[in-house]
Amino acid sequence: MRIGLLTGGGDCPGLNAVIRAVVLKGSRLGHEFVGFQDGWRGPLEGRSRPLVEEDVEDVLSRGGTILGSSRTNPYKVDGGVEQIRQNLEAAGVDALIAIGGEDTLGVAKRLTDDGIPVVGVPKTIDNDLGATDYTFGFDTAVSIATEAVDRLRTTAESHHRALVVEVMGRHAGWIALHSGLAGGANGILIPETPFDVDTVCGWVRSRFERGHASIIVVAEGAVPEGGAEVLATGETDAFGHVRLGGVGTWLAAEIEQRTGHETRAVVLGHVQRGGTPTAYDRVLSTRFGLQAIDAAHEGDFGLMVALRGTDIVRVPLSEATAELKTVPPERYAEVETFFG
Ligand code: F6P
Repeated sequence: MRIGLLTGGGDCPGLNAVIRAVVLKGSRLGHEFVGFQDGWRGPLEGRSRPLVEEDVEDVLSRGGTILGSSRTNPYKVDGGVEQIRQNLEAAGVDALIAIGGEDTLGVAKRLTDDGIPVVGVPKTIDNDLGATDYTFGFDTAVSIATEAVDRLRTTAESHHRALVVEVMGRHAGWIALHSGLAGGANGILIPETPFDVDTVCGWVRSRFERGHASIIVVAEGAVPEGGAEVLATGETDAFGHVRLGGVGTWLAAEIEQRTGHETRAVVLGHVQRGGTPTAYDRVLSTRFGLQAIDAAHEGDFGLMVALRGTDIVRVPLSEATAELKTVPPERYAEVETFFG
C-alpha cells in the first residue's frame, strides 16, 4: 500500500516520533509512504513528497513536525473533498494516517464517512481528547510549565512579588492543573470553573502575611465569574476557534490594584509546544505510531489509536471526536487544598 501521512493543528512534541514509527515499521511491512505538507492543506493542494526510512530514522527526539502543520479545514473550501480525492489518486495514495487533535480528527472522521480510508492518531498538548487517557505532547508541556513555575518562584520570593503564570488550555485546564500541582502553585485557575478575583486576592494576601510570594497558574481559557474569555485578537481560525491570550496580564493588574502587592504576569505561550519531547511522550508517540501502521496494514480504517490504561487500543473516529475531556470537578477539588 502507498500511505499518506499528515500532521494538522498546533504542533506538539512527539509528532516526529509517530512519523518515524509508522514509516520504519510500515517500510518493513512492505508499504510506501508519502508525506503531505502542512496538514490538510497538503492533500488539498497536492503538496507531498516521498517519505523513506532515511528521512525519519533520526527524528525521534526532534520537536515540531518534519511535515509542517496548518489549521486548514477542507470542509470550508468549495469542492475541498473532491480535490483531496483527486490529489490522493494522483499521488497513488491508498490511505491516510492523520495525526492531530479534535479538528484534524474531525476532518478525518468526515473523510472516512465520505469514503476515504483514514487512521487517526491523537495529539494535543491540551490532553482534551475524550477517547484516550493521554495525548502525547501533554507530558512535555507540563514539564516545561512546571520548570517555569519552579524558576518563577525563586525570583518572586526574592522580589516579594506575586506572579501569574498563563499556560495553554483553551477549553480544558489539564496543563494548568498538572503544572500547578507539580509546581506547588498557590492558586490554579482553569476554564472549567469560573474564578472569583477577590478569592484569588485573598490567597495572595494570606501568602504574603505568612512571608511568602504567590504563584498563580492560570489557563488561557479561564474566565472570571460573570466575565468572558480574554482574547488576543478578534480573529477566528478555519475551525471557528478564537485566539485566546491575555487573562494572565489582566489578572495580574487586578491583583496588584486590589492587594497593593506588586504582581507580574508571565505568558508561557508556544514555549510549551516547542523543543524535544519527554521520554514519556516519545514512548507514547512511538506506540501510537506502531498501532496506527498495524491498523492500516490490516485494512482497519475509520479509527483512532488511543491509550487506555497502559494499552494502546483502536476506537472508532466517531468516538474520538465525540467529547472533549475537561477537568472533572472532583479533580479540581483535590488541588484546592493547596490554594492560598
Ligand atoms: O494545540 C492546542 C493549542 O496549543 C491550544 O492550547 C492553544 O489555544 C492553541 O493551540 C494555540 O494555537 P495557535 O498556535 O494556532 O495560536
